[in-house]
Amino acid sequence: MEETVLKKVLTAATAAVLIGSLAACGGEDSVASSEAGGSSDTITMGFAQVGAESGWRTANTKSIQESAKAAGIELKFSDAQQKQENQIKAIRSYIQQKVDVIAFSPVVETGWDSVLQEAKRAKIPVILTDRAVDSEDETLYETFIGSDFVEEGKKAGEWLVQEVGTAETNVVELQGTTGAAPANDRRDGFEEAVSGSPNIKVIASQTGDFTRSGGKEVMEAFLKSNPDIDVVYAHNDDMGLGAIEAIEAAGKVPGQDIKIITVDAVKDGMQALADGKINFIVECSPLLGDQLMDAAQKVLAGEEVEKRIVTEETTFTQEQAVEALPTRKY
Ligand code: AHR
Repeated sequence: MEETVLKKVLTAATAAVLIGSLAACGGEDSVASSEAGGSSDTITMGFAQVGAESGWRTANTKSIQESAKAAGIELKFSDAQQKQENQIKAIRSYIQQKVDVIAFSPVVETGWDSVLQEAKRAKIPVILTDRAVDSEDETLYETFIGSDFVEEGKKAGEWLVQEVGTAETNVVELQGTTGAAPANDRRDGFEEAVSGSPNIKVIASQTGDFTRSGGKEVMEAFLKSNPDIDVVYAHNDDMGLGAIEAIEAAGKVPGQDIKIITVDAVKDGMQALADGKINFIVECSPLLGDQLMDAAQKVLAGEEVEKRIVTEETTFTQEQAVEALPTRKY
């Protein structure tokens, strides 16, 4: 009897310590203020978000929060500020709190096996959204819902091949967060698409961490060291928007002197495309909330869920952006 009470107290104390450290490292109030465990018939989901690095991420967070509310799912939400250790802490805290299901968008691809094994031992199903892990043990998660990032990179490269034909073309690449699935895959897909065009050369490549300030800073450095840049390939809109600022500050015209290709198609990116400052955008949809809640409900009801759910996406030229902008949701 005494032992049980002691166990409960220790569990609560551990959870409190974890929650405290989460709050210290940027975990959101919704985690800190939620009580451990959900009521018997309400599903409780612990969601460990990457951060708030881009317009895409803001739209993704909104989608998850709104869909959870609409589905009647209690959401415990934490923001890892683009740090893997914060996400691992959040997941451990959700395990301690005995949530019904854990979902997360892994900041990088590697290093998840042990925390996922902890969730498995606690019999808490895990759903990956947006980004993948490189784990060989597919039993560590139920499903992965998100885009095909390699395909996105290919679409960007294919457009460029069409656009420049046989002209000599120097490309600089603004990569996403080092080690993140979208950074690895968008690089690989693009490389594959341009591999048959020796006239297209990637002359510099560096991470801008998926942020506008990162894109601007790296582009400033690229402009200083490379006088002949023809094209910027940015792994997301935000870095492309940062590059526009750097190009304009250098006295050049984005979209004309230097062409820009980005990925995402958030409102700010689409506006720059419609304004002629970006030349082509590959869409990456952040609206994953409904699919996530649906998958969580099915998993918990013991229903079959596809191991991989791929998001449908398109591409936008400048003319298509003008048409799409008035009804764009994010
Ligand atoms: O994982 C999706 C990527 O992460 C988006 O393309 C980017 O904007 C975000 O930060």
